[in-house]
Amino acid sequence: MATKETKAQRVERLKREKNPWEALEEIRGFARVGFPAIPPEWLGTYMRWWGVYTQGDGAGVLGGANGEGKALPYFMVRIRIPNGILRSSQLRAIADLSRRFGRGVADITVRQNFQLHWVTPEALPEVLETLQQQGLTTLGACGDVIRNITGCPVAGLDADEICDPSPLALEASRLLAGNAEFYNLPRKFKVSLTGCRDWCSYPEINDVGLTAVTRQFRGQTETGFSLRVAGGLSTDPHLAVRLNAFVRWNQVIDTIRGVAELFRTADGLREHRERARLKFLFLREGWTAETFQTELERVVGFKFDPAEQELAPHDIYRDHIGIHPQKQEGLSFVGAAVVRGRVSADQLQAVAELSERFGSGDLRTTVMQNLLVVNVPHHNTSSLAKELTDLGFPVQASPFVRGAIACSGTEFCKLAITETKGFSRWLTEELDDRLPGFDQELKLHVTGCPNSCGQHWIADIGLEGKKIKSNGALVDAYYFCLGGSVGALQSIARPVGYRCSAQEVPEAIERLLRQYRVTREPGENLRRYFARHSNEELRQFLAGQQVDPVERDLPAAAAPHTVEG
Ligand code: HEM
Ligand code: SF4
Repeated sequence: MATKETKAQRVERLKREKNPWEALEEIRGFARVGFPAIPPEWLGTYMRWWGVYTQGDGAGVLGGANGEGKALPYFMVRIRIPNGILRSSQLRAIADLSRRFGRGVADITVRQNFQLHWVTPEALPEVLETLQQQGLTTLGACGDVIRNITGCPVAGLDADEICDPSPLALEASRLLAGNAEFYNLPRKFKVSLTGCRDWCSYPEINDVGLTAVTRQFRGQTETGFSLRVAGGLSTDPHLAVRLNAFVRWNQVIDTIRGVAELFRTADGLREHRERARLKFLFLREGWTAETFQTELERVVGFKFDPAEQELAPHDIYRDHIGIHPQKQEGLSFVGAAVVRGRVSADQLQAVAELSERFGSGDLRTTVMQNLLVVNVPHHNTSSLAKELTDLGFPVQASPFVRGAIACSGTEFCKLAITETKGFSRWLTEELDDRLPGFDQELKLHVTGCPNSCGQHWIADIGLEGKKIKSNGALVDAYYFCLGGSVGALQSIARPVGYRCSAQEVPEAIERLLRQYRVTREPGENLRRYFARHSNEELRQFLAGQQVDPVERDLPAAAAPHTVEG
């Protein structure tokens, strides 16, 4: 009897059989025949290479059978925005596509991308072509490929930056997005490159994280990069490992390629989809920084100079919200908070117009799901800030509004256990009412299942979606993970053993933060405060009394092959 193909074997076979980037004609064909005629291998696998995902029916994982949600005949379409750099004409095109084909909504994502929803197969060819005309692409926004390359959104503008590596990020994007050599990696591969001192694009959770550093070399100051590899979140979070390398400017592209090649040839990773990310070389196969470096040097064909000492940023919270002078004389950037990344087509169009009226038409997206208008003459900043605020994107916002991040949740995601976008908006409003004038920056990340697309592992307060029974009915609930941080205090958030219904979350956070306000040491920030308290204490603060710990239940079953991100 023939043994049944495993999920991993099936995906690997499909990838060997076809490079989806060479099959645009098939996508055009689907537009003619409609959703029901699209073969499962396209729906579940190949579409992703084009940044296209099936969309859930609103019930998340409960919508279908076998731990898999039910797909509607619509797609989510993810648009790459390398380094978050965007022109107003591009934003207008995204607004227009959202209005015509996406029911007027869009999301800014945690990798500086845009995501449209509700796109039909009939609309796909036009969506892809319009984006291409605007110099935008969806190629490799999903799938087992090199994903969007993130970077500091104010690269080249920030007076305090070490260097502006955005030209390198754009070049790497041009060379690697849609490059047939890298169409078949074991799983997704994430790169971040930043020259800012705050590491605001989170190199620690990328497969390749490059952060600028300087050294004295032959009597001159040379700018290069520290190299971290194999970071990632999901159900097995792993902060990237720093190698003993000073990556010179002209070695950056080869280094990114080299790590991607090393990943591509790590065949052991291809055996299980859930263990296929680069980090599993460290987590399961015993690799160390040294072995990785030896392998990488073999692949790239040169030896790295030894690492330079670097200064990890102390308190990494940096959302770019507010009005900030640029290094360019007379210009500022204006950062506006987009609560949990949700925008409407009308809002996007209006922001595009504002960026032209008050600035140069240059914009940026951030990994905290926010929008920046850059190159704004100083005398225009307050009028622009007022207009953005009137649009629903406050430039001066409470720490809760600024810190809120949410993944897609049940609204569009087939793996979701909870609704996240509406919940996090409500949560910020509740917290604003309950804790007016709260004086601390915090990251408040909501994620609708253990996959951590909303990055709850690196949040001060990370909420992971669950269901619990209440009065006989299943209701949304959240499990608390506290004290996640990146930078000098880097730490994966600790599952503290407390869980409550979604309705009770604001109250629990209010209790926790009131306790912090009353018992913190002078000048002590949240990150330090959480670090010096035990899980038991934090659980008690959340619950308002001593409670037994609740296990953080892992997903009941592995994600089916059709719904991985
Ligand atoms: C096995 C399944 C999945 C895993 C392990 C996973 C994991 C992740 C992680 C860790 C991130 C954080 C990105 C970062 O590194 O900064 C992310 C991003 C994201 N995920 Fe997922 N995900 C999965 C499935 C999905 C699904 C089914 C959806 C929705 C339909 C989804 C939507 C997103 C979105 C919108 C982002 C923002 C990323 C971007 O712009 O590239 N994910 N995912
Ligand atoms: S964490 Fe990711 S997979 Fe889970 S609900 Fe959110 S978007 Fe979906």
